[in-house]
Amino acid sequence: MEGVSQEVALGRSFEKVNAILKKHAYNPSNLVGILQEVQEEYRYLPEEILTYIATALGVSPAYVYGVATFYAQFSLKPKGKNIIRVCDGTACHVKGSSAVLKYVREYLGLREGEETTPDLLFTVETVACIGACALAPAMMVNDDVYGLLDEEKVKEILERYEEGREGADGV
Ligand code: FES
Repeated sequence: MEGVSQEVALGRSFEKVNAILKKHAYNPSNLVGILQEVQEEYRYLPEEILTYIATALGVSPAYVYGVATFYAQFSLKPKGKNIIRVCDGTACHVKGSSAVLKYVREYLGLREGEETTPDLLFTVETVACIGACALAPAMMVNDDVYGLLDEEKVKEILERYEEGREGADGV
């Protein structure tokens, strides 16, 4: 049953994957480019799609998995619609980035080891310097930078994204 519902759920995905494969002329040497485009479309690389790509390109699934896991840019786990990157560079660390990460995780109700909310609205990551050291502690949500963070500001920002008022003004 699960296989059937998965197939239904991925039905449209395969159409899009087929279009990407066609664009790359089913050429296995374009595998990295193919995976990049598939990930852009789905925000991660679903296992079923990796197997599908392997079959379509006539290479082994192990080879496709090998490439997908070799590059840090690829994710085999689902990612949220909004990617929060809490800076843990030196300046932010000194100014309390650990507390910022704690506020973010608490606000989102993430349990230990979890990076993505079950509703797939947010994924939380830590990164080294995002170039806003004067505003430490700082974080990015998608392409927007927010600085001088404290618990209240983190809450305010995340509320905005929850309500779909994202990308407001940054900083
Ligand atoms: S260390 Fe966080 S922005 Fe530079």
